[in-house]
Amino acid sequence: MKILEIEGGNTLSGTVRVSGSKNSAVALIPAAILSDEEVTICNVPEITDTKALYEILKYLGADVTKNSESIVIEPSHIENKEIPARLSKKLRASYYFMGALLGKYGSVKMCFPGGCSIGARPINLHLKGFEALGATIKEEDNCYIVEAKELCGANIYLDFASVGATINIMLAAVKAKGTTVIDNAAKEPEIVNVATLLNNMGAKITGAGTSTIKIRGVSSLKGCFHEVIPDRIEAGTYIIIGACCGDHLKIENIIPEHVESLTSKLQEAGVKLEIGTDSMIVTRADHLKAIQVKTQTYPGFPTDLQQPLSVFLTQCQGKSKIEETIYENRFMHVPYLHQMGADIRTKNQTVTIIGPTQLIADEVVATDLRAGAALIIAGLIARGKTQITSVEHILRGYEQIIEKLTSIGANIKEREI
Ligand code: EPZ
Repeated sequence: MKILEIEGGNTLSGTVRVSGSKNSAVALIPAAILSDEEVTICNVPEITDTKALYEILKYLGADVTKNSESIVIEPSHIENKEIPARLSKKLRASYYFMGALLGKYGSVKMCFPGGCSIGARPINLHLKGFEALGATIKEEDNCYIVEAKELCGANIYLDFASVGATINIMLAAVKAKGTTVIDNAAKEPEIVNVATLLNNMGAKITGAGTSTIKIRGVSSLKGCFHEVIPDRIEAGTYIIIGACCGDHLKIENIIPEHVESLTSKLQEAGVKLEIGTDSMIVTRADHLKAIQVKTQTYPGFPTDLQQPLSVFLTQCQGKSKIEETIYENRFMHVPYLHQMGADIRTKNQTVTIIGPTQLIADEVVATDLRAGAALIIAGLIARGKTQITSVEHILRGYEQIIEKLTSIGANIKEREI
C-alpha cells in the first residue's frame, strides 16, 4: 500500500504550474469518439482517471497515442461494445461514454460508474435527458441499457444544474435530429471546454457557460485539435496551500476568473494575493480572520475546494463556517482534522471551525480525492511527521502532486508499506 509522509512546518516558495483540468479531460476523452476522424487533445493531465479512460477507449477499439504534450485518439475503428464493470467502476466519469456512445450509435450498454463516496451521486438527470431525446432505459445486472430508434432534439429542464448531466446530454444530442435546449444547465468552465471541442468537431452548440444551452443536431463530426483548460480546483488547492504556508508562492497557468470565488474569500480573510493575467503570487498573512462560506454551483464557491479550505480556516482567528450545499457526505476529512488538533465540528451540512490552532502531525486516511488534498495541506502546516494512507484517491486527481510540492520546498515522500 502507498502512503505519504509529510514533515510539516516548511515555508513554501518558488513556482508551481497547474495542469490541465481533470474534470474537463474526463469528459473530453469520451467525447472524442463522436468524431469520425482523429482528435488531438493537448494539456491532458497524466492521472489515474485519464489512464482509466484510455483503457475504455482501447477496449472499444480506438487507437490512443500519447506524446509529451498531447493525446491522439483515432476512433474510426471503434465498436459499440458493452462496457464492463471492471472498466466503468474505476471512476464516476466513465458515464460520459453513455452520452457519447448513445449520441454516436443510438444505443449503449454499460455497467454503473464508480466515484468517490461523498454522496449518493445518482444519475437520474442524465437518464431523464436521454429519455427526453427518445431513448428507453433498462437496468439489468447492474448495467444500464439505453436504446433509441432515433434521437430527436428536445427541451430538457434540469431540476439541478448538474455538471455531469449537462455534459452527458450535450454528448447525446449533438447528432440528434433537430434542436435540443437544456434549461438550468450547469455553467462550469468545464462545460464550455467540452462544448468548444464539440464545435471544433463541427457541432452546433450555443450558450455553453450560461444556464440555457442550445444544440442543433448535425449528421457527422470530424477530427480536430483541442486544448484542456487549466484545472481550477488544482489551482485553488495550491492557492490555499500558499495562503497556509506560502512566501511569494507563484501559481502559474491559471484563469483568475475561474477561481474568483476562492480568491475573494481568501482576501476577505486577509490573505495577500498578487493576481496576474495567468498566474498568482500568494503569501501567508500573519493575521487571518474567520469567514463564512457556502458552496454553490459555478460561479459560486466550488464544493471541490470546501475540504481544502477548511484546513486554511483552522488558521484563522475566530469562528468560521462552511455550508456544503452540493453533496450530503463531504465531511469525511473532519474527524482526521480533529485528530490533528483542529477545533472543528459539523452539524447538518455546516462545518464550524474555531481558530487559530497549531495542528499536530498524526496518522490519517484519505477517504476521497479532496479530503486527501485537505490532509496534505494539514500535514504541510502540522508540527511533526504526518502519515496519509489510501493515497490512491489523491493520485486520481492531482498530477505529480509529490513532485510539485517537493519543488516548492515541501518535505513530502511516498512510501510503500
Ligand atoms: C462534477 O461531478 C465533478 N466531477 C465533481 O468533482 C464536482 O464536485 C461536481 O461536478 C460539482 O461541481 C467531474 O466532473 C468528474 P453534479 P458531477 O452532477 O457531474 C446531484 C472532484 O472532486 N445529482 O453537478 O457528478 C449529485 O448527487 C469531483 O473533482 C443528482 O441528484 O456533479 C450531487 O449531489 C467530486 N442527479 C449534485 O447533483 C444527477 O443526475 C452535483 O452533481 C446528477 C447529479
